[in-house]
Amino acid sequence: MSARVLVVDDDGEMAEMVADFLQGAGHRAESIKGGKAAVAALKKREFDAVVTDLRMDEVDGFDVLAAAHTGDPTRPVIIMTAYGSVDGALEAVRRGAFHYLTKPFKLEEVVVWVERALADRGLRRENEKLRKLVDERLGFRNLVGKSPVMVLLYDLLERVSHTASPVLITGESGTGKELVARALHVGGPRATGPFVAVNCAAISESLLESELFGHTRGAFTGATEAKKGLFVEAEGGTLFLDEIGEIPPGLQAKLLRALETGAVRAVGGGAERKVDARIVAATNRDLARAVRERSFREDLYYRLHVLPIHLPPLRARRDDIPLLIDHFTVRFYEQQPDAPRREFSAEAVRRLIELPWPGNVRELKNTIERLLLLGRGKRIDLRDLSQVIPEPLPESVAALASEIVPLRVLTRRYLEWVLAQTGGNKVRTAQLLGIDASTIYRMLSREEE
Ligand SMILES: Nc1ncnc2c1ncn2[C@@H]1O[C@H](COP(=O)(O)OP(=O)(O)OP(=O)(O)O)[C@@H](O)[C@H]1O
Ligand SMILES: [Mg+2]
Repeated sequence: MSARVLVVDDDGEMAEMVADFLQGAGHRAESIKGGKAAVAALKKREFDAVVTDLRMDEVDGFDVLAAAHTGDPTRPVIIMTAYGSVDGALEAVRRGAFHYLTKPFKLEEVVVWVERALADRGLRRENEKLRKLVDERLGFRNLVGKSPVMVLLYDLLERVSHTASPVLITGESGTGKELVARALHVGGPRATGPFVAVNCAAISESLLESELFGHTRGAFTGATEAKKGLFVEAEGGTLFLDEIGEIPPGLQAKLLRALETGAVRAVGGGAERKVDARIVAATNRDLARAVRERSFREDLYYRLHVLPIHLPPLRARRDDIPLLIDHFTVRFYEQQPDAPRREFSAEAVRRLIELPWPGNVRELKNTIERLLLLGRGKRIDLRDLSQVIPEPLPESVAALASEIVPLRVLTRRYLEWVLAQTGGNKVRTAQLLGIDASTIYRMLSREEE
């Protein structure tokens, strides 16, 4: 392996000699005289490793070390130090230098240590990649649920993950669309390839196009470098197009073309380039309706709709709620091992099963975490729940527009609802409603007819 090595010394000849030797050993070494020029070079160019003298005027080896680690904290730095400043060299190692050599040293030693440092870094990167892979696999196991709809879903995912066609995941917000997209990726033959996610709603149209397809250098103002684009980055893996329903009309045609030809063309021109990326799209919009309303292209819809996966809302699989509560509780304590231990009382679980959960699993997860953080005792009970979860609007208040009741009755019902929100706290309720607490007492003492 040929590495790009920067060699720095106050003594230009020394730097050159070391660099020449590294060249001889097959590396691309560059010598620089003095720390200042070295720091500037590190800002501008890529190096795999740095060999630097420690004591230099103005900008010394510590500064070079810091600069080398600013761009990439794993970049190996090897210190060359004069006999007599070993203390400084040790300090440099303490600050993250890989090794130090005391002058005079054999030039072979530099080569040995540079190569050893790079091999070491390679191993660490490999490890990190493996760890990421394991995490993602855990992500797959993190799909919790044993209800019939989920069992059917697992079966479908298993089959779909082994195909190459586009997938369209639909479902309300928080039902686990992204989780399922990742599960498809790690469950299939592309697991070792990249998983690239892009949120189509978060980026402006012009930017989204160059994000997806890349751009040539100078394609537009500010395009100082050519960019590959996410399709190309997802080569051999999965491209996750989140919130596909928000993709602007102009781009829908270009996306369709990419899906049909399996090739992309960068903004600014150039040849089409074949890409092999599996497309998984997700949306919480009703795309069929968007097609009817002409805000989503029909042809693109059918192209994506080859393998549709619909995720049920949480209220359609309430049986899974106890499992999810356990799951999120365990996860919470894994992440916050010092948080006070609490568990959910049976009534609390029963109540959590009944709630409507418009925000689905995400809302449940957030609620569990809030309860574990803010609960007062070892057992989370209904009182804790009422502090954290707003009671749903009573039908009578929610149906303001459809049911006509005397204002007095409505006021009374609304008051009761706000009281429930505050856990029966009349003073707080009065503050929220902008009335005196005495008014509340008076209203409550009056019988509702
Ligand atoms: N079946 C499930 N088992 C365990 N956790 C889940 C499940 N479904 C969703 N979650 C968790 O709920 C949260 C929301 O899921 P995710 O981000 O995948 O939802 P989404 O459908 O993409 O939502 P949105 O439409 O708002 O982007 C995440 O923390 C996810 O890990
Ligand atoms: Mg999402």
